[in-house]
Amino acid sequence: TLLDVVVNNDLNIEGYGACEGTLTCSTCHVFLKQSDYDRLPEEPCDEERDMLDLAYGLTDTSRLGCQIT
Ligand code: FES
Repeated sequence: TLLDVVVNNDLNIEGYGACEGTLTCSTCHVFLKQSDYDRLPEEPCDEERDMLDLAYGLTDTSRLGCQIT
């Protein structure tokens, strides 16, 4: 996942991925370009959509990094 990329490369993004991918935080919220969003193989699941609803600045191309593979 995108979260794995951040963790495995020691990218220091404070607070990113606080729940370690268990879909209970939304700190991994990312804004994608429409073209990148359209290339993702899956739509957000219901649990991801619920967490995205709590995310700051939600856009039509928002996703949670821990769910992007
Ligand atoms: Fe918490 Fe993605 S890391 S929802």
